[in-house]
Amino acid sequence: MTTGTTVAHAVEPDGFRAVMATLPAAVAIVTAAAADGRPWGMTCSSVCSVTLTPPTLLVCLRTASPTLAAVVSGRAFSVNLLCARAYPVAELFASAAADRFDRVRWRRPPGTGGPHLADDARAVLDCRLSESAEVGDHVVVFGQVRAIRRLSDEPPLMYGYRRYAPWPADRGPGAAGG
Ligand SMILES: Cc1cc2nc3c(=O)[nH]c(=O)nc-3n(C[C@H](O)[C@H](O)[C@H](O)COP(=O)(O)O)c2cc1C
Repeated sequence: MTTGTTVAHAVEPDGFRAVMATLPAAVAIVTAAAADGRPWGMTCSSVCSVTLTPPTLLVCLRTASPTLAAVVSGRAFSVNLLCARAYPVAELFASAAADRFDRVRWRRPPGTGGPHLADDARAVLDCRLSESAEVGDHVVVFGQVRAIRRLSDEPPLMYGYRRYAPWPADRGPGAAGG
């Protein structure tokens, strides 16, 4: 992308996508169980903290996603925050593969929520669907966090500039150049 000021009279999707690619975000897999118990899940970077009281997050899911359908029908989901080494799992859950859950180790949550990817997540947040809003071709899903499971201190997986990368090692405020 070139730099410089652009006065946008009509913002095209490609321009919006290009500039949002420069806003790296942590990568999660949002999971839910359908009414028949079948696990669903998809890679998401749109997870965002909303408020601490009550502890609430949001995630934007494409309207046609079967994962969204399972979230809405069960009124519950889990957000698996991925470790940096789990980028192949992020790719798997962003692909068209129907056998995603046959290719990872997962377990059902002890209470509210969707499948836990215990080998690949650094933390899992189990949520109850509190509200949702349709915006364009996505649905913004708000989840009230009911349980938090911290699994690992490994660095998080990030996505930006159209590629995966680990969160850089902590240099700390006193480190050279920090
Ligand atoms: C790094 C990354 C982040 C993504 N974030 C989102 C997201 O926040 N919301 C979304 O709807 N799709 C997102 N996607 C695309 C979905 O993962 C992809 O469309 C996936 O195939 C959806 O699964 P489904 O077909 O079972 O719904 C992302 C993809 C990648 C690679």
